[in-house]
Amino acid sequence: MAENHQLWGGRFTAEPSEYVQSFGASIHFDQKMAAEDLHGSLAHVAMLKHTGILKGNEADQITAGLHTLQEKLAAGKLHFTIENEDIHLNLESLLTAEIGPVAGKLHTARSRNDQVATDMHLYLKNHLHTILQLVVELQKVVVNKADQHVETLMPGYTHMQHAQPISYAHYLMAYYEMLQRDYDRFEFNLKHTDRSPLGAAALAGTTFPIDREYSAEQLGFTDVYQNSLDAVSDRDFILEFLSNCAQLMMHLSRFCEEIILWDTQEFQYLELSDTYSTGSSIMPQKKNPDMAELIRGKTGRVYGDLMGLLTVMKGLPLAYNKDFQEDKEGMFDAVDTVEQSLTVFRGMLDTLTVKTDNLAHATSHDFSNATELADYLASKGLPFRQAHELVGELVLKCIQEHKYLKDVSLADYQALSPLIAVDVYQALDPRTAVARRNSLGGTGFDQIKKQIAAAKAALQ
Ligand code: ARG
Repeated sequence: MAENHQLWGGRFTAEPSEYVQSFGASIHFDQKMAAEDLHGSLAHVAMLKHTGILKGNEADQITAGLHTLQEKLAAGKLHFTIENEDIHLNLESLLTAEIGPVAGKLHTARSRNDQVATDMHLYLKNHLHTILQLVVELQKVVVNKADQHVETLMPGYTHMQHAQPISYAHYLMAYYEMLQRDYDRFEFNLKHTDRSPLGAAALAGTTFPIDREYSAEQLGFTDVYQNSLDAVSDRDFILEFLSNCAQLMMHLSRFCEEIILWDTQEFQYLELSDTYSTGSSIMPQKKNPDMAELIRGKTGRVYGDLMGLLTVMKGLPLAYNKDFQEDKEGMFDAVDTVEQSLTVFRGMLDTLTVKTDNLAHATSHDFSNATELADYLASKGLPFRQAHELVGELVLKCIQEHKYLKDVSLADYQALSPLIAVDVYQALDPRTAVARRNSLGGTGFDQIKKQIAAAKAALQ
């Protein structure tokens, strides 16, 4: 009779082939959670001692062994194998090598199903804190930059056509708002992540008199799952995370798209620092916005991580299914991608130069002040619809004559409408156009200054 050497090999008479073993193994990626797994085991054994399920000296031996494994892990001295399938079985087998058969008592009243869920909650909780911090750091750079550019004018766009002049700070503060919503979503995500599944065991709870609240407290969780089936089969907290990551990356990607566009020869609104640009191997003149393109591109893989897990989950009956093993790589990938993208984006934004002269030129050589003229006429009593028509015709005439509204003579203006006086030129000035838009949330300088002050206070 062929033997099976797996930790679970008792009821087996044969081994899977190496190929099958390797197909089923997750150790090549779940070793990322080695520290969390040891942390979870330490809390579990502390609970087993606290409740008297294990004798004090046995629990102490296991605890000491786990501490040794922690030290070895930190020193890069733990060696994992495919034969031991995943991080949980690998660490149990390493613990056995360390302290002998008493290691076998650690798994009392526990299953790999609640163990892996615990590891993932710990891992994600930790990284959610990092990501929240990184979002705040980026917001600080956005607000700082906005503060320096309250008076910098730029064309505001709709349909990628010059629409109305705005302040560059106003543009930046829109991204501050988006990032704030990202922050709020990740913070809410923490609520569902900060919950202990430990003690759900395989699916139904356990006959041992465990204390789930005690182990949860050891791990710093503020809450425990109330249903053991849900505890081992819930991946909503990861789906929420991936969805939040997808939205954050979409925001960064839009921002990157504008940076890439505005850094072109055609726009020349800004220039990236050399430290965030790359050259070409053939064209000596090139300075490419690779980092912005890469962040835009990485948005695709994070969407993929979300779609991947949604699809894995859609047909799964309660409770644990091996399909769940497919939940990890996407989560790790999204964590790494988002942390790196936030870090690179922050540096790139912080160091780019805004070409204020070019932006100013763009706002004074266009028709984005046409609304001002229509508003001017409307404020003097002409129905807005009529004013709109009149200005539209004037714009067309100007285009044909290769000039802008500011170049039209007062005589021509007065021929157009006797309502127009010399103060029209003041109204047409883009700076006036921006300054006067002081409706709540508008681009007016006073509004922006208020928004920046509020953001600064919130970021404290
Ligand atoms: N490697 C497994 C996973 O990632 C751990 C849980 C295994 N549980 C089981 N009943 N086979 O999902």
